[in-house]
Amino acid sequence: MFRAVLTDRLQAAFAAAGIDLPEGFAPEVALASDTRFGDYQSNAAMILAKRLKTNPRALAQQVVDRLDVVGLCDKVAIDGPGFLNFTLSAAALEGRLGRILADERAGVPPIAAPRRIVVDFSAPNIAKPMHVGHIRSTFLGDALARTARFLGHEVITDNHVGDWGTQFGMILHGWKTRLDREALARDPIHELVRVYKTVNAEAKADEAVLETCKGELVRLQRGDAENLGIWKECVRLTLEQLAKVYEALEVRFDHYLGESFYNDALAPLVQSLLAAGIARESEGAVVVFSDGSLPPEEDPFLIRDKDDWKAAPCIVRKSDGGFLYATTDLATIDYRVREWRADEIWYVVGAPQQLHFRQVFAVARRRGATTHMTHIAFGSILGPDGKMFKTRSGETVGLLEVIDEAIERAREAVASREQGLDAAAQEEIARIIGTGAVKYAELSQNRLTDYKFSWDKLLSLQGNTAPYLLNAYVRTRSIFRKLDGAEAAPAADEIFTLTDPAERALAVKLAQFAEAVHDILIDHRPNLLANYLFELANSYHAFYEACPVLKAEGSVRRTRLALCEAAGKVLKTGLGLLGIRTTERM
Ligand code: ARG
Repeated sequence: MFRAVLTDRLQAAFAAAGIDLPEGFAPEVALASDTRFGDYQSNAAMILAKRLKTNPRALAQQVVDRLDVVGLCDKVAIDGPGFLNFTLSAAALEGRLGRILADERAGVPPIAAPRRIVVDFSAPNIAKPMHVGHIRSTFLGDALARTARFLGHEVITDNHVGDWGTQFGMILHGWKTRLDREALARDPIHELVRVYKTVNAEAKADEAVLETCKGELVRLQRGDAENLGIWKECVRLTLEQLAKVYEALEVRFDHYLGESFYNDALAPLVQSLLAAGIARESEGAVVVFSDGSLPPEEDPFLIRDKDDWKAAPCIVRKSDGGFLYATTDLATIDYRVREWRADEIWYVVGAPQQLHFRQVFAVARRRGATTHMTHIAFGSILGPDGKMFKTRSGETVGLLEVIDEAIERAREAVASREQGLDAAAQEEIARIIGTGAVKYAELSQNRLTDYKFSWDKLLSLQGNTAPYLLNAYVRTRSIFRKLDGAEAAPAADEIFTLTDPAERALAVKLAQFAEAVHDILIDHRPNLLANYLFELANSYHAFYEACPVLKAEGSVRRTRLALCEAAGKVLKTGLGLLGIRTTERM
């Protein structure tokens, strides 16, 4: 990775110049923000000069005089008030091009210190509608897990399905009195949600129905055989249908340890919290209060109340003896640390659960957990009108409906574009484009902002979309189809020569795939890779316009073929990290 190498060289130059670096300061190199001045840049000399109160340009000169970039850079310029701008040499870029072709990871170095990371994502609730939040979680979590694995971490994916909760009171009552068996056989998730919604509405209007539901729930929790049987059947039917959805999306989980898996651990957990003095009884419930160790602004057990702070305790057992979502999450942390020896746990869950996780993490830490836990939050998806997102049929959106509709729309587009393909091939391409487009619409967004969902934008061949990127990939492949094996594919040990500026610009972009992939994990942001791939596709198109490949000869032709091959490889690898499959035609 050029950025890392240049950073090392820069730090060595500071040392060689005998400059004492203040505590906590390490000179850094970043991608150039304006490529007219170079490929990489550093403002280290400026920052340091300010701290040491010396002249930044003179300091920069001192460092540059000792900088060893032979073979790596053609030029290191000191610009403006003391910026360092690095321009890579053609030889370095040509060498890298060969490496991208040879390396199965397309030139991305693995992480230096691999960790064992549990990724908790998707986690829909049984018999409750899967909402758009689950779409975001599924795609973000999958992309992050794929990237972490690619970089050499040991990743364990776990679908913490909501398979135990108060909704089952309504489901049980509904199952016994309102169930449409045929509909259940056709589409279990849909029917269970219908039953849940119907009973929920009735219970709101009629106290007696609510009481019946509560009774059913209590019987389930006490282990009543009939209710347990129905519950198991609901879970089985739902997971079976979900498995198909995940398969179509190519999302895999190593485990499906739903909330119910932890039932037996909850009572002992609450006991241990009480025994350790972390929790105490309050109005019949068991709760965790602030321990005063944090400033109130950062304390998850306090909320602001006008000019004062009010207790916002975390309840782990209700006064009726029931356990809560937080109790289950604490037991889950115990399990993941004990059984899986997790170094890190990532929770890909919507922003509204922020307080929940802050409290759970704080309680876990008070119990001695040292595992690094991160809530990877995200915002909502809005419809094109900026309101709640709805499907064609006007229902609130579920994951299945969105994917199906995307494939349907892609099918129409493919049929109008590609006449020479048989029906099965067309269907396959429509699936790749449809699911890819929905995934990409998600993953190209900053996860924390709400984004508007627009079918036209999503499936457009222009702009930062999956079809645009897939099309760039198809273009890289069509060149080799035209060659039809008449010429050897470019090989890693060939001598390449970059001559045209568009070739050079593409070669730089290709080299920066390494940085793009590593940057995803700094703050769990797949959109950084999406943006990179979009820019890569742009560079590829610019190169393609400016530099004829098949009309060129000799080493120019071989270099251009190598650029096409490498661009295809990086696009395919990068899209793969986002969970998007490529197609040779579209
Ligand atoms: N089932 C929850 C929901 O739909 C998400 C669970 C997330 N994971 C966790 N360990 N709490 O809101």
